Amino acid sequence: MSDLTIVPAKPGEFAELARLIEVQNRVPETQCLHSGEHADEVEAVLKQPEAPIFMIARNGDVLAGAFGCEVDGESRGYLQGPFIAADDYTTVANELWQALYAATPSVARYDAFVNVRNENAAAFLAAAGFRRSQGAQVYVLPAASLPALNAPPAELFTDRCRAGVRALHDLAFPDSPETIEPFMSGQNGNRRLFVFSDGDRCLGYVAASVNDNPREGYIDLLAVDASIRNQGYGRRLLLTAAHWLIEEKSMPQVGLTVLDMRSDTRELYARTGFQLLYSGVGYFRQARNSRVESHS
Ligand SMILES: CC(C)(COP(=O)(O)OP(=O)(O)OC[C@H]1O[C@@H](n2cnc3c(N)ncnc32)[C@H](O)[C@@H]1OP(=O)(O)O)[C@@H](O)C(=O)NCCC(=O)NCCS
Repeated sequence: MSDLTIVPAKPGEFAELARLIEVQNRVPETQCLHSGEHADEVEAVLKQPEAPIFMIARNGDVLAGAFGCEVDGESRGYLQGPFIAADDYTTVANELWQALYAATPSVARYDAFVNVRNENAAAFLAAAGFRRSQGAQVYVLPAASLPALNAPPAELFTDRCRAGVRALHDLAFPDSPETIEPFMSGQNGNRRLFVFSDGDRCLGYVAASVNDNPREGYIDLLAVDASIRNQGYGRRLLLTAAHWLIEEKSMPQVGLTVLDMRSDTRELYARTGFQLLYSGVGYFRQARNSRVESHS
């Protein structure tokens, strides 16, 4: 490994990098989730201004590995990889990680999400100081399996139930209060929030979006008020969002991710036509401890 070089990926290398990611993501043992599965789509994302930063490792001319980080806002870093094609996984992954860490100085917390069968990545992340967080299941609903909406759909969110949506969201997702805000303030062609309401009160909502993946739209958030659960509102919300994504946005499929802590909702997705695609596990690590600790 003496002639291993680590450099930021340049535009002329994006096609080669995208192929490496496609090959690695085809196999559960090397798959890193949420980083793309089709080389043409990965390459298109890499060319965008907000693209993840990727470091690549070369052994002579041969691409030995790559590791990327998508910096969200100021301080969250969502890792893509490590994707290691060389035999010496640990050396290549460590060198890539050190370079990536140095190239992302604003990141205060890194998150990774890898296939539960990717043991090399699990061992590398543990040795690099990452802690295992929750497992999660990635589901997909292909357009051909979209069930009919045989009850009235949910309505488009309006400002009238802003406080109601916030109140329900705080109850359903107390650990992530901020995630609903972009859907209430920034509804546009790529983002929708649908609700069931009773006056100002929000009885249920679903948030859905499309991003630069031309193959898949997402269901981001779903909640129903505890007083009316198990009466089919959740399914109607899901289907309202899925119909919007498939019929209006022409998405070939709809994806969603379910955390292990919410595993009791899986039956609802399965009965609504969603198929389990992958099981993943999340990892996180605080970076630049002095800055992070100074807040605590
Ligand atoms: C998950 C959640 C949105 C489901 O909402 P809901 O309105 O209860 O969903 P539904 O009523 O459509 O379906 C729930 C169950 O009720 C059953 N049900 C549906 N209609 C029914 C009816 N008319 N009579 C009796 N039972 C019914 C469904 O079969 C389903 O059972 P299953 O889970 O065994 O498939 C709700 O529990 C919630 O807000 N949870 C907290 C937030 C959360 O976990 N969100 C999901 C994040 S992944």
